[in-house]
Amino acid sequence: MQSLMVNIDHVATLREARGIDYPDPVHAASIAEMAGASGIIVHLREDRRHIKDRDLRILRETVKTKLNLEMAATEEMVGIARKIKPDMVTLVPEKREELTTEGGLDAKSQSERLKGVIERLKDKGIRVSLFIDPEEEQIIEAHKLKADMIEIHTGRYSDAVTEAIRERELKKVVNAARRGKELGLGVNAGHGLNYHNLPPIVMIKDIDELSIGHSIIARAVFVGLDRAIRDMLDIIKSYGT
Ligand code: PXP
Repeated sequence: MQSLMVNIDHVATLREARGIDYPDPVHAASIAEMAGASGIIVHLREDRRHIKDRDLRILRETVKTKLNLEMAATEEMVGIARKIKPDMVTLVPEKREELTTEGGLDAKSQSERLKGVIERLKDKGIRVSLFIDPEEEQIIEAHKLKADMIEIHTGRYSDAVTEAIRERELKKVVNAARRGKELGLGVNAGHGLNYHNLPPIVMIKDIDELSIGHSIIARAVFVGLDRAIRDMLDIIKSYGT
């Protein structure tokens, strides 16, 4: 069965809407773990729009499951990751003006730079995942670059406006997951997954971990974080193999 990694960035988004010190993503992480999350994910962005360096430092001390740091492959972030030593890093493309991560990493066109970044992270015992679109050439590149894992971008699947597009995008995710496994990579998936579109993704046996944030935090506003996470876990248990 797939494990659920919970992204808590948007707890920090709510805090930053007022620029005060609550709600605290550190508290959210503890509740998520007690509800059954297999790990906690935060994205430390260049502009620090939600998660702050302080959050990451404390989470490193307090997270008892697994801490996944999403970050751009920049010098600053590599330095922070090497110091904090999260259990894993997911390298993502990052644009200042975007609302959320828009596309996957183009591992092919920046392979030289990524190679150095991956080496410097692995050197500190940090496992490295590349967030990529479900395209074969990107998966092959991730393998060549000696990434430990890939995270398949499910955004196009999640945002599909017709059944036909959804089916087509789902097939791409299925094929990408299979190709990743054939190459010996760990395979994760995420972006835009919610309580409605998750079942077909849960049925893909080649996917190890799910990375889900916005839909869980949105539901938590109404039913509480513990319940929102347990509801998501129920879907994974019901449809998972
Ligand atoms: N995976 C990556 C690489 C992301 O950047 C995000 C968004 O922070 C997610 C997964 C989670 O996406 P969502 O918040 O839509 O569940």
